[in-house]
Order: sequence, then structure tokens, then C-alpha cells
Amino acid sequence: MYNNPRLILDTSDPLEPGAITWRSPSNIAIIKYWGKYGQQLPRNPSLSLTLAASCTDTHLEYAMKEEGEDSRISLDFSFQGAENEAFATKVQDYLTSLLPVFPFLGQLQLTIRTGNSFPHSAGIASSASGMSALALCLCSLEDQLFATLQDPAEYDRKASYLARLGSGSACRSIFPHAAVWGETPLVAGSSNEYAVPVGDQIHAAFKDFHDDILIVSQAEKAVSSRAGHALMDGNPYAEVRYAQARTRLAQLLEALRTGDIATFGKIAEDEALTLHAMMMASNPSYLLLHPNSLAIIEKVREYRAATGHPVYFTLDAGPNVHLLYPGDIVHEVRAFIERDLEEYCDEGYVQFDWVGEGPEEM
Ligand code: DP6
Repeated sequence: MYNNPRLILDTSDPLEPGAITWRSPSNIAIIKYWGKYGQQLPRNPSLSLTLAASCTDTHLEYAMKEEGEDSRISLDFSFQGAENEAFATKVQDYLTSLLPVFPFLGQLQLTIRTGNSFPHSAGIASSASGMSALALCLCSLEDQLFATLQDPAEYDRKASYLARLGSGSACRSIFPHAAVWGETPLVAGSSNEYAVPVGDQIHAAFKDFHDDILIVSQAEKAVSSRAGHALMDGNPYAEVRYAQARTRLAQLLEALRTGDIATFGKIAEDEALTLHAMMMASNPSYLLLHPNSLAIIEKVREYRAATGHPVYFTLDAGPNVHLLYPGDIVHEVRAFIERDLEEYCDEGYVQFDWVGEGPEEM
């Protein structure tokens, strides 16, 4: 179990009010996390590329509560400059769940202002960038108040651990280029409790990869990720799927090390379709793909066959299609998107993104 000291402020010491701001990116899983147990622990290891353009900025202000106030979380929250009750409740519940190990959070008056670099409800998952930005703010807060996270590796580990408690995939956003979350003999130091960086184990070609997100639908998903993970518990293919993810992770790590883009692309597409196959094979079954998602997938495969350009797709738990390709063909692929794919996107909306350097403190 992650070693978490129980931190309480000495109220006889005056505390100067302070503020912290972090920008944290989203990430795109190549090996998918799908299926969990316990307190947000993954059934299989996953690997993602860290993105750059799709990110969340979170600003946290803190001050000591007045004498005699109770020790519940006291939070003033806003999202994109406005009140947002759903998000406020989510953050409030998350902070409350941390009180047993972070009792000091109950001693403070907290203000959180947060916002995304991409339009709200564009169908781009914001939980990875949002929860990782918040977790980083909490780690900076812990370090400012207690000086307990001076070691950068320990700081990142704890940020990843806290992000995971908010949303599983968020724990992978802490690291530059690429991260692995979930225990595997293939990656030294890997854990189910936090992600570890693997950016130093990938070929330069992948550090220059793009991920353009074709927004097929901006509508709210019919089945949330949370519900989808839960349905893996009764899925007759679950154990085979978890074993397959391990096998594919070994193949992917090898491809990432050697710069084997074709193998990388094949695994990315196979993983995307397996993820959605699991949804179709759940009880009750469900579909998150849209006819336009399928049309795009067909077009991508045709384009690859016709041009030889290494453009591959992957999918999240939703209808939007991510196009993965190396930076040296960005002009060709942007022209392809404009000519052949934009018509399948909701209001022609495409979020251009690429592999990034990870979060930054502002
Ligand atoms: C399909 O991390 O959103 O994007 O842990 O319940 O918050 P919770 O789920 P979440 O699941 C993401 C699933 C995925 C694949 C992945 O990112 O690995």
C-alpha cells in the first residue's frame, strides 16, 4: 500500500494564505485500461502517450479557517469562470475522500478555479487532465505546508497516486511523453497504485507523434466509463481480455523502443476495437460508436493503403476517433482530414494534439 503520512497543521503557527497553479494535459491510451477493482485499481497494465494541447489549468488558493469552524471540506469552486454544481460536487467528494490521509484539507478554506483548453463538453474526456491538475495542486500544497515532497520522483509518484484516486487514467498524465500504469514485470517499479514514466524507453519517432481528435459527437455518453468498467466484472471475455492486454503491452514496449511504427499502429487499432468489442459483449450490451466513427475508420484504412502513410486510429470510451501519426507527415494528414474526414465531425470540429512534455507549474 502507498505510504501516506497523516498530515495535520499546527494551528498555533500562523499560516500565510497562498496559491498554486498547474497546467496538466490529457493522455491517450494505446493499451487500454478497461476493468477495475477495489479503490480504482486496474485489472491490467495500460500504456499511454501524454498529450500537449488538450489540458486543464487549475488554480488553488488556500487560507487557514477561522477558529471554531468545523473540519469538513470548505470549497469555493468555479469552472471556466462560472459556477458548476456537478463538477463542484465531484471535487468536493474527492477532497472529502482524501481527508483520512490529508486531514489538513479540513483545516483550510479552499478556492479552486479551473478550466480546459478545449471547449467544454466537446466530447473530449477532461477527467485525465482535470484530476491530474488537481492532484498536482494538492501535492504542491502538501509540500508548501509540510516540505514532505522534496524529492521530485516521490512528488510525481504521489501526484500520480492522488490523480488515480480521482480517475484511473488521470494517473498517467503526470509524466512526459509516455507512462505505464499497472503492475507488470516488463516495467521496473510499475504499480497498480500509480503510473511510472516510460518516456526514456521510447524511440524519438514517438516523441514527435500527433494525435488529432475527430469530434464525431459532442453529446454526453449513454454509458459512463465508470459503468463501463463495472460491466467488465460480468463479461465472459474479461479474463482473456486482461491476458491479451499483457501480451500486447510486451509487443508495444518493444515497438516503442525500436521505433517500429507499423507494429505500434496495429496494436493501437486492435486495442481500440477490442475496447469497443468489450462494450458490445457486456450484459447489458451497448454501443458507443457512431456511424461516422466507422466511416472515419474505413477512410483511414483506405488512405493508409493508398498512400502508404502510417496513419492509425484509436478510440476512447466514446465515438470520437483519434488519428495517430508521426510529425513528418503532418501536412499530408491535415489535408486528408480537411478533404475527407471533417464532414464526419460534429460541426467539423477537430482538436489537434501531439505528444507533450507533461504538466507544468504556472
Ligand atoms: C477507455 O479513467 O475515465 O479511456 O477510473 O472510472 O475514472 P475511471 O475511468 P477512466 O477510464 C478510461 C478508460 C479508457 C482507456 C484508458 O484511458 O486507458
